[in-house]
Amino acid sequence: MDDALSRPGHRSLGPDGPVVAPMAYGCAHLAEASTDEARARIEAAVESGIDLIDTADVYGAFGGPGFGAAEERLGAVLTADPGLRERIVIATKGGVRAYRSYDTSPETLRRAIDDSRRRLGIEVIDLWQVHRPDLLTHPAAVAEVLAEAVTSGKVRAVGISQHSVSQYEALRSHLDATPVAIVTNQIELHALQPNALTDGTLDLAARDDVVPLAWSPLGEGRLGDGAAAQSQRTAAVHAVIDRVATDAGTSRSTVALAWVMRHPTRPIPIIGTTRPERIRAAAAAIGLTLTRDAWLAITRAATDSYPDERPRLLPRHPVRSAVRRLSRSRRT
Ligand SMILES: NC(=O)c1ccc[n+]([C@@H]2O[C@H](COP(=O)([O-])OP(=O)(O)OC[C@H]3O[C@@H](n4cnc5c(N)ncnc54)[C@H](OP(=O)(O)O)[C@@H]3O)[C@@H](O)[C@H]2O)c1
Repeated sequence: MDDALSRPGHRSLGPDGPVVAPMAYGCAHLAEASTDEARARIEAAVESGIDLIDTADVYGAFGGPGFGAAEERLGAVLTADPGLRERIVIATKGGVRAYRSYDTSPETLRRAIDDSRRRLGIEVIDLWQVHRPDLLTHPAAVAEVLAEAVTSGKVRAVGISQHSVSQYEALRSHLDATPVAIVTNQIELHALQPNALTDGTLDLAARDDVVPLAWSPLGEGRLGDGAAAQSQRTAAVHAVIDRVATDAGTSRSTVALAWVMRHPTRPIPIIGTTRPERIRAAAAAIGLTLTRDAWLAITRAATDSYPDERPRLLPRHPVRSAVRRLSRSRRT
């Protein structure tokens, strides 16, 4: 067995893909850091057993120093610490030009892959991901670029981000004739955003062995330790998570991350803290398996209590929905 695979919880991204730990570190805020600060974060991750490092060409463009800046910062860290490259799996993405401006046309993606390799200072990107589906590019054209990137050796494995089940199916169908498979899907998944549990995303992950990479696993800090609840629903979720944390002798953020990891498809949370001590603390979640009852109690708090606050949450109880429809029809 591969040495890395024999480490507890490690898994391969696709049959021949890179082997990674059950938690990842995200670089969305790396561009604003100095190279020393960025290095301290990446080293804290690696020392804590977190080896998948996720970035994107667009990180740094939103209110930061500019497009490509996060990749350049990670590239500078790799230069400053030459042994690091062998200890991490580098994931990046392309296809987002600016906020809500997507372009996955073949010329853009080909350029994006080459630009990312240059900025990161690496020959081969371990995992390259289509950051968002672009409604104006045919999936066959995207598939062609992905297949070419892998067969040319520029990219080791490919993934997607924020694709619906049908968008995944369309892209996959054009990859079927190639040796290339989609091995990961980045989704927003945390106790305040559990849609992927029931909208088919995690079912396809189970069917095709697509590894879910869960972004914003602490809800961009809303599930962080000491975070104040901004809504009744968040307060309800905090109350249950805090109770589970007290029983387990751990923190709210640890339980929130363990909630993500408890699903049988074993989603990998991509943590985003900018503080090395919080990166080290987050790794404690790798060793915490929530009981079925604890996981269900948190999920119920997120989905049952205040269904009207988030319209896309789990389907309502079928009987209750039918009663609601009936009483509405009686009123009209
Ligand atoms: N594919 C996509 O479209 C997509 C979208 C969004 C994000 N991502 C990926 O996911 C990564 C993580 O996203 P994220 O930053 O939103 O993740 P997150 O971990 O849910 O949120 C990070 C925020 O939570 C705070 N925080 C972290 N640990 C905490 C703790 N123990 N107690 C209190 N507050 C805590 C952080 O503050 P401090 O920094 O002060 O600790 C930061 O403000 C990104 O870097 C990126 O790689 C991908």
